[in-house]
Amino acid sequence: MAQPELSEDNLDIILEKMYVKKSWDFRRYRKSSLRRCIERRLASYRLHCKDYIEFLDVQPLEFNNLFNQLTIKVSEFFRDTDVFNQIEQYVIPEVIVKPKTDGNNSLRIWSIGCARGEEAYSIAILLSKIMRSSTQHALEDLKVKIFATDIDDASVDIARKGIYCEESLKNVDLFQLGQFFKPSENYYQVSPQIRNLVTFGVHDIVSNIHLSHMDIICCRNLLIYFEKDLQEKVFEKFWYSLNSGGYIILGRSEVVPSIFRDRFRDIFRKEKIYQKI
Ligand SMILES: C[S@@+](CC[C@H](N)C(=O)[O-])C[C@H]1O[C@@H](n2cnc3c(N)ncnc32)[C@H](O)[C@@H]1O
Repeated sequence: MAQPELSEDNLDIILEKMYVKKSWDFRRYRKSSLRRCIERRLASYRLHCKDYIEFLDVQPLEFNNLFNQLTIKVSEFFRDTDVFNQIEQYVIPEVIVKPKTDGNNSLRIWSIGCARGEEAYSIAILLSKIMRSSTQHALEDLKVKIFATDIDDASVDIARKGIYCEESLKNVDLFQLGQFFKPSENYYQVSPQIRNLVTFGVHDIVSNIHLSHMDIICCRNLLIYFEKDLQEKVFEKFWYSLNSGGYIILGRSEVVPSIFRDRFRDIFRKEKIYQKI
């Protein structure tokens, strides 16, 4: 059978059904990647589009399969090591000494689209390393809170357990592996001390209200899946969520939308690290 083709109208019907039946709003995600994913489903079932739409009506579990395909969970610890080097050497040292405005002496970080937790734990490891080696007394009272959220509840459950195979740990050095992980036969588990720094939750950045008073937002490799208008809508949430002088870290192929350029300054252009003005 030839590769099934998905028309614009049929794609819209499927996305509308997902929204109405499951409240997952993919309607302003990039059409090209949505189309690729759905066409793969059609091919695997050998169904034409019209029949697949009917199949969704009688087999609601297929919404979950589709959701799994559309939310791409590729990640690893210290993904793009140069970015994490700048986070370690510049961003974290800057934010931990910055006077806190909330009166609670707290440092708040939000990893958005955290997949199975690799990114949030990478940041927690760096913070822990820096705070341990610091001689500054003020840091002893610093209350660190890392929030890590994803639309996919199954990924969030995995993230909470903090168990990973060797492949996702290839950028973790031996010192970090020894200090922050507990080895088992076929996997490693993040130590409780690091897990306790991170609060995981299910959160849809498109439909849910933003968290607030953040010093750092890390949202890498999520905006690339959004159309321009959705990127702008979500970026507005980032702007409200960040404290002034707070940092936002994007993925390699993502940028601050042009309508927000005068509200953020470039800190590291190549590594996509920006600061709210
Ligand atoms: C490619 S992964 C990025 C993981 C990690 N940030 C990284 O760069 O390695 C994209 C993640 O975004 C999540 N995601 C997709 N749409 C989302 C939404 N509307 N709100 C929150 N998370 C979403 C997916 O479930 C997936 O885990």
